[in-house]
Amino acid sequence: MSATRIVLLGPPGAGKGTQAAILVGELGIPHVSTGDMLRAAVKAKTPVGLRAKAVMDAGELVSDDIVIGIAEERLSEKDAQAGFLLDGFPRTLAQAEALEGLLAKLDQALDCCLALVVDNEAVVRRLLGRAEIEGRADDNESTIRERMRVYDAETAPLIEFYRSRDRLVEVSGMGNIEEVGKRVRQALDA
Ligand code: AP5
Repeated sequence: MSATRIVLLGPPGAGKGTQAAILVGELGIPHVSTGDMLRAAVKAKTPVGLRAKAVMDAGELVSDDIVIGIAEERLSEKDAQAGFLLDGFPRTLAQAEALEGLLAKLDQALDCCLALVVDNEAVVRRLLGRAEIEGRADDNESTIRERMRVYDAETAPLIEFYRSRDRLVEVSGMGNIEEVGKRVRQALDA
């Protein structure tokens, strides 16, 4: 696989975190998940965590200034200079523009945006399944549906953003984890 600077895009429950965990092991690049970083901040009750908690619990987006700040800080670290896999960032056009600006400043460029395409009802079932095991505060049916509405309104436009820049690779996220992983690898090899 030649791509080392990758954005993983897809609705809640599409399998971004699952595929990212597999890919970063194979590619030797850091997994940068803004959702994981924000949940860690909430748990640690940092100022960012205290501001983000209610927004996340409601399934809304944390403000661009906060998220762009934590993403920029993470991508400026030494281990991200040779590549990274972004999971859950960018999620708005403002975040996508900020990422382009940051990479230009670092003299880097994104290799691709890998978008997982899924059936909404199937991923609601996946997330309700995870709720039973992990009990994430935003994994209840009404919040899952709100997260999907927010995805359609705020994040789905990034598909065209990356398509127009010739960076978009779309892969079906349906089927089991191994089947999706195989498709992801093929798409990154192509
Ligand atoms: P975030 O943590 O990014 O959540 P999300 O996008 O809703 O994604 P999920 O983690 O729910 O799903 P996923 O696609 O990673 O799927 P996963 O692999 O886990 O964000 C949470 C919140 O933080 C946001 O709502 C927002 O408030 C805030 N936030 C984060 N980033 C932000 C940003 N940039 N700007 C503003 N706010 C931000 O899989 C889900 C389940 O399905 C798992 O149980 C898994 O085992 C299972 N599964 C995975 N693949 C398969 C498969 N192929 N078949 C069957 N089951 C599968």
